[in-house]
Amino acid sequence: MTPQLKLDAPRIRADFPIFEQVIHGKPLAFLDSAVTAQKPRQVLDAVREFYETSYANVHRGVYTLSERATEAYEGARTKVAGFVNAPSAREIVFTRSATESLNLVAYAWGLWNLRPGDVVVVTELEHHSNFVPWQFVARKTGATFRMIPVDEGAELDLSALDAIGGDGDVKVVAANLVSNSLGTINPIDRLASWAHDQGALMVVDAAQAAPHRKIDVQTLGADFLAFSSHKLCGPTSVGALWGRRELLEQMEPFNLGGHMIRKVTFEETTWGDVPGKFEAGTQPSAEAVGFGAAVDYLQAVGMEAIEQHEHELAAYALDRLGELPWITLYGPPADRRAGIVSFNVDGIHPHDVSQVLDWEGIAIRAGHHCCQPLMRKLGVTATNRASFYLYTLPEEIDRLVEGLLKVKEKLG
Ligand SMILES: Cc1ncc(COP(=O)(O)O)c(C=O)c1O
Repeated sequence: MTPQLKLDAPRIRADFPIFEQVIHGKPLAFLDSAVTAQKPRQVLDAVREFYETSYANVHRGVYTLSERATEAYEGARTKVAGFVNAPSAREIVFTRSATESLNLVAYAWGLWNLRPGDVVVVTELEHHSNFVPWQFVARKTGATFRMIPVDEGAELDLSALDAIGGDGDVKVVAANLVSNSLGTINPIDRLASWAHDQGALMVVDAAQAAPHRKIDVQTLGADFLAFSSHKLCGPTSVGALWGRRELLEQMEPFNLGGHMIRKVTFEETTWGDVPGKFEAGTQPSAEAVGFGAAVDYLQAVGMEAIEQHEHELAAYALDRLGELPWITLYGPPADRRAGIVSFNVDGIHPHDVSQVLDWEGIAIRAGHHCCQPLMRKLGVTATNRASFYLYTLPEEIDRLVEGLLKVKEKLG
């Protein structure tokens, strides 16, 4: 596949076997890609081929199969490093997920470096994965925990930074690049330069950004960046943490056990080099190989084309849903949001909305999206969320609108 400016979604869709089925007699409209993405044949084939031809434990055996498996695993690391333009593949740690990547930073950096008088800053837009670990380590270390508020338009109110900076020694700022519940694209460049002016580290949760837009860690301004494979068409149970090498080298390990050591004696243990120091136990080798194949797949389509496609879908969805007076839309205007649209139907709980849409073969997310503090700020307990990816068609948004008319007819 050659990179293309305008994305051929119907052709791309043919790569995804899941769309060959019908749900309740209707073609599947999967509008829940923010929670997890479907898998193309290229990724499924890569995982199967690895198991069929190259599978053994990595970094263990001194025999051909183990060496082949190790080569495939490290090859995947190189691909993932290239995907975010990391200066070195050694700066990519394979984890279980974005959640584990963020916990790794909170535990292995935060617990060891924070103390009373320090300030940990997150935003009101965070997923619990980039909120709860920081709240926890702040409490454990006696550091102050502060949130950058969102304004009326669901964008970060950076005018609060001065007051937050006055609360103590800001040591870490943790924010997502794209909000999973509202699709807001956050100004990481401005946050990172503020963080660095304070002498703080910038931790970026790119779980909703890496699958959908080109990321360059050398220009983003982050010190750490976390993302998951399963949201970018790869397998579950593998994620990545990119970190600046000197930080990774200074940090204590997160998980302890096999592979991550240099030397173990009765008296003490010393740690291996980065990234092995953070990859204790049997590595998710087949998953990492699938992660590498997913990265290849997305890059062959072209990240700019994917971003543009989703942007057009979001604008279309906002227009179409905006035609329905009984719908409340949340989040910023189309030009400042990714392919995620959150909404509520007046008087009908999102779970009921989602149930009726399922009968029409339409899958959307209903709930608090692991963003309870944000839901409270919005004054709701839950929203409906439609989210798009490279295989999403505009016709599926039309079906969503028709489905919502049925919801209103049945339950309104
Ligand atoms: C913004 C954001 N951060 C972190 C996560 C956690 O990702 P994972 O469940 O893959 O660890 C998610 C998942 O929805 C997310 O949307």
